[in-house]
Amino acid sequence: MKALVYHGPGVRSWESVPDPTIDKPTDAVLRVDAVTICGTDLHILGGDVPDVAPGTILGHEAVGTVTAIGSGVQTLAVGDRVLVSCISSCGSCRYCRHGSYGQCLGGGGWILGHLVNGTQAEYVRVPFADNSTHKVPDGVSDEQMIVLADILPTAYEVGVLNGGVQPADVVAIIGSGPIGLAAIMTAKLFSPSRIVAIDLADSRLKAALEFGADVAVNSSVDDPAEVIAGLTGGLGADVVMEAVGQPQTFEQAVTLVRPGGHVANLGVHGQPATLHLEDIWIKNLTITTGLVDTFSTPTLVELVASGRLDTASMITHRFVLDEFDTAYDVFARPADTAALKVLLTASS
Ligand SMILES: NC(=O)c1ccc[n+]([C@@H]2O[C@H](COP(=O)([O-])OP(=O)(O)OC[C@H]3O[C@@H](n4cnc5c(N)ncnc54)[C@H](O)[C@@H]3O)[C@@H](O)[C@H]2O)c1
Ligand SMILES: [Zn+2]
Ligand SMILES: [Zn+2]
Repeated sequence: MKALVYHGPGVRSWESVPDPTIDKPTDAVLRVDAVTICGTDLHILGGDVPDVAPGTILGHEAVGTVTAIGSGVQTLAVGDRVLVSCISSCGSCRYCRHGSYGQCLGGGGWILGHLVNGTQAEYVRVPFADNSTHKVPDGVSDEQMIVLADILPTAYEVGVLNGGVQPADVVAIIGSGPIGLAAIMTAKLFSPSRIVAIDLADSRLKAALEFGADVAVNSSVDDPAEVIAGLTGGLGADVVMEAVGQPQTFEQAVTLVRPGGHVANLGVHGQPATLHLEDIWIKNLTITTGLVDTFSTPTLVELVASGRLDTASMITHRFVLDEFDTAYDVFARPADTAALKVLLTASS
């Protein structure tokens, strides 16, 4: 088969590799029908995730059709159409038993396209297949489903639920990339009174308004603190989400929240950020961090199937698998291409 193989920082290639096979009784093998690229794949290619060994097939998001199952797989059958979660779950360790699959101690967690071969290929082996896939409901397209592999549960769990968004809250979201936009989409499930999107790129802010933000602030032009003060009688936002992953945006998040409010960090950080305890010890803040667990995926699947979430609008570019190189180039230059999520589908 063909697959997108990581060969060390900066080097990837769409090349022929052996087909995956069932290694363990709990494995399934899937034909990949639709797959996408994540900002985290760009981080890997940038050399930021040294755990990824050269030779690993990238990718942790897919919709596929089961072609083989191990003897221990109980809920899947050959021919089933399933979503592959970015997080795998052994199902029996201490963390999995609490729904914290991201912290799995039994060999799961974020492994696809990280510690084992991933989904950017014609076929993929999915470990712990019963616990790590979700059947695609009839009438739901691959395109609607694919963003439920990673960005929707991330935004919902690590942003909206960790942030404790309540009806009538003023919610500020720093960063309007796919994760920030998914946070806007899922925060709206709780009827906040205002969502303030903050970014440096006008193209991303335009998308934020289309996804349901009420106010868009280009923070290279306007001061988000003044805008939020104007909406909150000077208090600050009830919930601030950091969806960039830079020290300055985390520090900014802490300055934009009201006393007693929540700061939910979603960004993956490579550099230390300063926590100004000398200012905030008195403010009764709650600050949360998190790797997505994907415990909410069944809820999100229901919301998509019932038409409550328009996830397909996240897909801006479409390719076939053989065009992986072009798809990476388009995804890596969002300022020029306005890419949010790119979709690659099997050609036949
Ligand atoms: N916690 C998790 O489990 C998890 C899962 C997936 C992704 N992430 C992380 O979430 C973050 C966002 O992901 P994404 O795919 O949307 O990334 P992205 O790079 O596409 O989007 C980031 C956005 O932030 C904007 N930005 C950059 N600097 C800014 C600044 N100083 N002020 C305001 N906006 C600024 C950019 O213009 C861009 O629109 C990344 O750090 C990613 O690694 C976390
Ligand atoms: Zn991802
Ligand atoms: Zn586990």
